[in-house]
Amino acid sequence: MLLVVSLIPMPGFAVAPGLTLDPEKPTKAAITKNNGWDNRVAASIASLGITGDATMGQTLPSITSAKAQLGMKLFFTKGLGGDKDAACVTCHHPKLGGGDNLSLPIGVTAEIPDLLGPGRRHLSAGADFDGGPTVPRNAPTTFNLALWEKVLFHDGRVETISGGISTPDSGHGNIDPVAGSNLAEAQARFPVTSPEEMRGFAYEAGNSTAALRTALETRLQTTGAGIDALNSNDWLAEFRAGFGSTADAATLITFPKIAEAIGEYENSQVFASHRFKEYIDGNKAAISTDAKKGAILFFNSVAEGGANCASCHRGDFYTDEAFHVVAMPQIGRGKGDGTGSDDFGRFRLTGQAEDKYAFRTPTLLNVEKTGPWGHAGGYTSLNAVINHHLNPQSAIDNYDFNQLENSVQVDDMKANTQRAIDTLEVNRSAGLISPILENVSLTGKQVDQLVAFLKTLTDQCLNDDSCISAWIPASSDTDPDGLRVNAVNENGLAL
Ligand code: HEC
Ligand code: HEC
Repeated sequence: MLLVVSLIPMPGFAVAPGLTLDPEKPTKAAITKNNGWDNRVAASIASLGITGDATMGQTLPSITSAKAQLGMKLFFTKGLGGDKDAACVTCHHPKLGGGDNLSLPIGVTAEIPDLLGPGRRHLSAGADFDGGPTVPRNAPTTFNLALWEKVLFHDGRVETISGGISTPDSGHGNIDPVAGSNLAEAQARFPVTSPEEMRGFAYEAGNSTAALRTALETRLQTTGAGIDALNSNDWLAEFRAGFGSTADAATLITFPKIAEAIGEYENSQVFASHRFKEYIDGNKAAISTDAKKGAILFFNSVAEGGANCASCHRGDFYTDEAFHVVAMPQIGRGKGDGTGSDDFGRFRLTGQAEDKYAFRTPTLLNVEKTGPWGHAGGYTSLNAVINHHLNPQSAIDNYDFNQLENSVQVDDMKANTQRAIDTLEVNRSAGLISPILENVSLTGKQVDQLVAFLKTLTDQCLNDDSCISAWIPASSDTDPDGLRVNAVNENGLAL
């Protein structure tokens, strides 16, 4: 039975105003004290090898390259959606932090396909669903995708393994021979196969993912009416430009090349230059004293009086690329596990008991822009996310599952989330996993300081429309099939 849940896009998610530095002229005593904080931050990050530069040593693609430009056009076209009503950008818009600002995404059959973010709704109740989101997990950001070395997706089902990359096509632990050369490229083959995200429920229904991809290739090679062609079609010229080739459509417009171009575009979304880096590079005024105190809490262990965040959010990319049970609210329809509305996370791949409810540690670069947070988007404020880490049981006891409509579902969601906490407790008492989430006692002020620190990890490009617009097609750019998402918000304003 398909579960019925109408999840309203969580209210109250708004980007908090930027930090302002203390305007008062510091006294001599304050300066000495400040040096004290600086010294302590310096000691913490030195011992952990933090440099502020997550991109070190890597050659990353530029958005101005021909291939990335082609990838951008593919990322923005509904022509890759089965029913021509959803594109990659539907859930990963550069102006929405590389996500969609919703707890759980709405992909196909939206009331207004080009309306993104809060206010996006499914067409009114069909036979299968009630208008709520059908996608069971929060859309992670595509920003800094190139910096992931090991795993993509909340459960890591696209994964670097010895000799290649494993994907849902090859299965856990097996090399997918057509995955391509990087994780972004490997991942880009899959959203088109998901009925809820892009494929729809009728297009190539019952056919294999291979047949589906072939049908999409054919569509992009063909001009004409109907679902198997495009009314207007300039893709051949675009692929020729993107790949610097004069080959024919059958050679150029193939799924491996579609994925390669989309991957290039995503990998060009490098937003890793932030105020904390500026601070590490020597500008001691680049971040506030509160942020410095937050950094010390973040990097120090509990024994040292810190919150041990860096044990999992490790290094300059702020992730160990590993899986941990943190037991964030399990809301929405779930992945069909357990009771049906549950999501077992990494366990779905490994079958290991300790992986049940384990999800990938997210990067914290630009985290201020990538909410709502958690694998199911259960939290709409960073303070709440942190409070959850400090004491999951008390956070869940106080969590308002009634933000979601449908009371039957609420009981399921509560029970599923409690099972995740119970698994955390079992793992804690077994004492076999390290690092493991510890309960930590912090004051509200200290939580604010952690939030102040997290907000220093935002790339300034994201606060500058003229900078971020390089990753959005301009109105003067060609629209190869007339199916580009011209994104608007709920007030009808262009994103
Ligand atoms: C309906 C919304 C939706 C659409 C459309 C969509 N995605 Fe996603 N995307 C998601 C969700 C949800 C996840 C997480 C799924 C999971 O972990 O199980 C995700 C995960 C990803 C990831 C992994 C990021 C990470 O950090 O692990 C990448 C990359 C990505 N999507 C790219 C794309 C591309 C490329 C397209 C188009 C071909 C696309 N998405 C279309 C919702 C969407
Ligand atoms: C035991 C490992 C671990 C520790 C320690 C840890 N985290 Fe996390 N953190 C995670 C995992 C795993 C998730 C994702 C949970 C999910 O998706 O449901 C997460 C999610 C987050 C998120 C939400 C990010 C997003 O994109 O959804 C933030 C913010 C965060 N952590 C900050 C912190 C802070 C601050 C601390 C220290 C107080 C901390 N974490 C300690 C593992 C950890």
